[in-house]
Amino acid sequence: MRISVIGCGYLGAVHAAAMAALGHEVVGIDVDAAKVEALQAARAPFFEPGLPELLAEASATGRLSFSADMAQAAGASVHFLCVGTPQKRGEFRADLTYVETAFAELLPHVRPGDLVVGKSTVPVGTAEDLAERLVGTGAHLVWNPEFLREGFAVQDTLHPDRLVYGVESADGEPTEDGAHARKVLDEVYATPLSEGIPLVVTDYATAQLVKVAANSFLATKISFINAMAELCEATGADVTSLADAIGYDARIGRRFLNAGLGFGGGCLPKDIRAFMARAGELGVSDALGFLKEVDSVNMRRRVRVVDLAREVCDGSIVGRRVAVLGAAFKPNSDDVRDSPALSVAAQMQLQGAEVTVTDPEAITNAAAKWPDLRFAPTALEAARGADVVLLATEWDEYRSIDPDALAEVVAHRRILDGRNVLDPGRWRAAGWTYRALGRP
Ligand code: UDX
Repeated sequence: MRISVIGCGYLGAVHAAAMAALGHEVVGIDVDAAKVEALQAARAPFFEPGLPELLAEASATGRLSFSADMAQAAGASVHFLCVGTPQKRGEFRADLTYVETAFAELLPHVRPGDLVVGKSTVPVGTAEDLAERLVGTGAHLVWNPEFLREGFAVQDTLHPDRLVYGVESADGEPTEDGAHARKVLDEVYATPLSEGIPLVVTDYATAQLVKVAANSFLATKISFINAMAELCEATGADVTSLADAIGYDARIGRRFLNAGLGFGGGCLPKDIRAFMARAGELGVSDALGFLKEVDSVNMRRRVRVVDLAREVCDGSIVGRRVAVLGAAFKPNSDDVRDSPALSVAAQMQLQGAEVTVTDPEAITNAAAKWPDLRFAPTALEAARGADVVLLATEWDEYRSIDPDALAEVVAHRRILDGRNVLDPGRWRAAGWTYRALGRP
């Protein structure tokens, strides 16, 4: 099939390459000329494990190309909308500018029978609006949310947990157009991608809600365990043992119960906020009142770790040297959007500390966004002369860092484990003051 993928960020670039690898002829379209140039040369424009290999494989087939010109979408029969929906500046609402612009520019190029597939995370109601605007073109809309995680984007795209199709429906049943949309999308996601993968075919509203509901649940799970961490801090209990013990209950499950600095990134924080804003517009803000708490618990962790730094530095971080290990919002990513690590680093600097940040992949992105912070290329260099070291993003190389080697470069052996991934016994045995979030 001929496919266009509009928007080549973490979602679209991976999706375009994956679709070409599956056998389709794909053009990826993005307004960013530098990104297009990199992708066209089969270079990944951001760090994502497996993407360079997938791009190389897909490009070698001759079925994958990239362009900054929307006219290249003409001739494709399936158009995936993969543009970003960031948080609106100064508001909780999603900024739909990219969706609006991409859709308006695509519209002149769609032909009767084409399928426009929405993948971006949008406020419920957006799909209905877009479908309305396709009336008269003979093209159809399907909402097909994407659940990929950065760091696992290739794996999640090629081996999804489930597929969700939101199709046009009447009385809860797909209309003729809805049935056609399903048939086309089935062809796009042919074997091996869809083999054995659960498929939920539903209406537009449900499909849009599935994505934000899933992300809200995940954010809630993280904030739940971080709220328990606050209780643990007040009682001397250990949140990691608590998480293990409750996680053995299959109804609860251990995944996403890692207490620490909390969630960040380009999805969870802005998605729960946009969801609250949309609920308000729909007159049901009470239904999502709890998400305000989820957000608050999450932000409080960042404050708590600064307090911990102050505690271990005898009451003040003014003039103290702090090494922050990690800048990305999570390991295996160079994404620094709403990164807890950088937010804490900036806060400590604002309060008078001399902060040096390091990260294996995200320094360039971090320095572009936070030019006032100081950066070092390695953990040992960042920690040279440090009064306190904060592990903020749990990259493997920081999890396995040798306390004795680090001890040789720091001024004081004080470690804050912002992700609960170090062995307290080992660090204490090496002479370190070890403090963590939710652990005694
Ligand atoms: C998330 C969803 O997982 C994905 O399904 C959706 O499509 C996009 O949003 P992503 O933002 O890539 O994906 O990262 P994820 O792995 O979910 O982590 C989000 C944040 O939560 C990270 O900052 C991570 O450090 C934090 N986190 C995760 C925790 O603090 N504790 C946990 O137990 C798990």
